[in-house]
Amino acid sequence: MASSSLYYSFLFLLLLCTLATGSEFFLPKEKYTHLRVFLHEVSRGPNATIYTIASLNNKSPSKFGDINVVDAPLREGPEPSSRLIGRAEGVETGVDMDRKGALSLMTLKFTAGEYEGSAISLLGVVFPPTTSERSVVGGAGQFRMARGFSFVKLINSSEDFLIVEIDVYVAHHEKLTVRPM
Ligand SMILES: *[C@@H]1O[C@H](CO)[C@@H](O)[C@H](O)[C@H]1NC(C)=O
Ligand SMILES: *[C@@H]1O[C@H](CO)[C@@H](O)[C@H](O)[C@H]1NC(C)=O
Repeated sequence: MASSSLYYSFLFLLLLCTLATGSEFFLPKEKYTHLRVFLHEVSRGPNATIYTIASLNNKSPSKFGDINVVDAPLREGPEPSSRLIGRAEGVETGVDMDRKGALSLMTLKFTAGEYEGSAISLLGVVFPPTTSERSVVGGAGQFRMARGFSFVKLINSSEDFLIVEIDVYVAHHEKLTVRPM
């Protein structure tokens, strides 16, 4: 019985493979962009932009195992009044037993300016307040097929807020226009 249903699944897969169609798409010339944005985090209170959603509560100074979610404004400059150009949305998890370091999965979503509607995705372990590097693992819109690297540097912080500069060096393709099918 089991082997005959396996046989039919196999036939079905085979059918799917023969039905699937493929086509090529054109990859425009690669270009290289350096951009700088400032993330303005509110650490607590009603307007907090970061929340701890799980914790091992093991009193570890490194916050090992803590999971935080972030949705913070991205601005053009370090001043809180500077122009809002997007949001940084992501998850950060304490992954270092000794130091306060977090594995950061973050998407920079641009909502205004030259890159409106586009996004860059970052991945890496950060060690605030030390300047840390994350990889550019992809992107959307103008940053389709992006790759590169980025630095995050502390500009100012207190108990209530944190302002960091994010420098992104990204290789991507200009006008890679493919629409959803
Ligand atoms: C939270 O944001 C609202 C709307 O921007 C603002 O009116 C309020 O003063 C803020 N609260 C704090 C504690 O910053
Ligand atoms: C850091 O933030 C404090 C409090 O808002 C402010 O008084 C100070 O000027 C800021 N420092 C820098 C270097 O931006």
